[in-house]
Amino acid sequence: MIGDRKLVFSGVQPSGNLTIGNYIGAIKNFKEFSDEYKCFYCVVDLHAITVRQVPADLRRRTYETLALYIACGLDPQKNTLFVQSQVPAHAELGWILDCYTMFGELSRMTQFKDKSAKNAQNINAGLFTYPSLMAADILLYQTDLVPVGIDQKQHLELTRDVANRFNQIYGDTFTIPEGYIAKDTMKIMSLADPTSKMSKSDENQNAVVYILDSKDDIMRKFRRAVTDSGSAVKYEEGKDGINNLMTIYHAFTGKSMSDIEREFEGRGYGDFKSAVGEVCADGLAPVRCEFDRIIKDKAYLESVMKAGAEEAASYARRTMSKVRRKIGFVN
Ligand code: TYM
Repeated sequence: MIGDRKLVFSGVQPSGNLTIGNYIGAIKNFKEFSDEYKCFYCVVDLHAITVRQVPADLRRRTYETLALYIACGLDPQKNTLFVQSQVPAHAELGWILDCYTMFGELSRMTQFKDKSAKNAQNINAGLFTYPSLMAADILLYQTDLVPVGIDQKQHLELTRDVANRFNQIYGDTFTIPEGYIAKDTMKIMSLADPTSKMSKSDENQNAVVYILDSKDDIMRKFRRAVTDSGSAVKYEEGKDGINNLMTIYHAFTGKSMSDIEREFEGRGYGDFKSAVGEVCADGLAPVRCEFDRIIKDKAYLESVMKAGAEEAASYARRTMSKVRRKIGFVN
């Protein structure tokens, strides 16, 4: 809380090309908070190195993720946009919170289980303690609200548990954050396997629509999307493929599920898939256009990063001095 203004924090990893899952589940919603709340949106590069990254790619994607934030409508004058590794307090508080997070708690995290199954050669300690760094990101700013997709819910619950634990030991130190998970768009599924989440690390390029895909690619991917053997566009239990496409159509048009059902009554899946491709490509066109313009201006992006990191650091400093004093560190 800043005066009477609530504080919002969220982050995206620069670990791959961003997908419409990242867009619909998170980034698209970020700007809704800018008028009413004090907002911090971070490119979480410290998190990204829990999986091995090619250095030049990581650097490029860090710029790209920041440029996408801006292209998606986040005005750097109204939102604090910054890169995590440029504010060292994240790593510092991350370490401290490691000491208040239990082995058992971290062992239960499904993201850790999934990622260690996928990266069996590199199950490093950072992958395991990832959630306490995420808790540090959030708690450092005395965050009230964290807009994320449903896959981050378990990490948010752990953040609250760690904050409560710390507060119980040392007295009120951290604001207990609430998640903001938009019910209707919280999980966009893979186009190739609609029972699993659309993920930027998916190796099957046809399973994933990227925010920066061309219209041709978007249309092709939706036309190929896996659906069930039925033909009616109807939102129903068990029809994961169609439900997912309806969710995406809803996200880009604002139409309700029953309106969508009415619109496509008597028309087959083929028609519907093309329509989803159209609204998605058209919805993303302005983002792509803005992105192309902004990404060319490195100096501008660097000035945004610098101003963002300075502002974030000044907020983080207040929390850190409180934390250090409470723990018993000598100033
Ligand atoms: P990341 O980079 O995997 O994803 C960024 C955001 O996109 C959401 N998301 C989705 N939403 C709906 N459907 C999908 N298929 C989908 N895929 C991704 C994620 O829920 C997330 O909101 N741990 C976080 C990054 C992070 C963070 C934080 C977030 C680090 N510190 C502090 C909030 C607050 C992550 O890996 O997100």
